[in-house]
Amino acid sequence: MSEQVLERAPAPADLPGFFGAHEPLPREDVDPAIWPFIDRWVATHRGGRERLIPLLHAIQEQLGYLPFPVQEYVAEKLGLSPIQVYGVVSFYHFFTTTPRGRYQLKVCMGTACFVRHAQSIVETLNDVLGIGVGEVTEDRMFSLEQVRCIGACGLAPAMMVNDEVHGNLTRNDVRRLVRRLRAKERKAAAKAAGEADGGTDEQ
Ligand code: FES
Repeated sequence: MSEQVLERAPAPADLPGFFGAHEPLPREDVDPAIWPFIDRWVATHRGGRERLIPLLHAIQEQLGYLPFPVQEYVAEKLGLSPIQVYGVVSFYHFFTTTPRGRYQLKVCMGTACFVRHAQSIVETLNDVLGIGVGEVTEDRMFSLEQVRCIGACGLAPAMMVNDEVHGNLTRNDVRRLVRRLRAKERKAAAKAAGEADGGTDEQ
């Protein structure tokens, strides 16, 4: 656990909203179901500022991420400043301000992985998915992140797919993995469509 952190911290330029560098995401772009969800949560969980982290977790579970208008709303509901909420969101790596995919790909950029060419894993994913780090595919299937040591240094280079660790990765492994996950999704979609049509299964 003595890895060095090679990942860069979020830069203010990446953070639209509170600092005025960019236009905040309009409220209309956020799923409107989230506002009553927050109201209900706050009404049913008594307490003060200590509710912030549990509430952020609940929202992220519901929405998949914590967009800035939501952070502002949470601040208002809990009597905090937006900057206080943002400070917490940006401090903990498990919070995200960008939507995540159904498959969250987290490539380890800790020292052991870095020296075993983790960057080539990131580049392969950039190429195969057509997205950069911190982005999500249009179909919301995949999102890509770089993270610190995931505790699998002996398997470097390693990455996580949701909660699953994949190690000793090569570029081909990564391509195969993405193909497999896409096939799995197609199969699930076909099955769901078949069920919706009254059980007509076309494969
Ligand atoms: S550096 Fe430890 S798992 Fe990558």
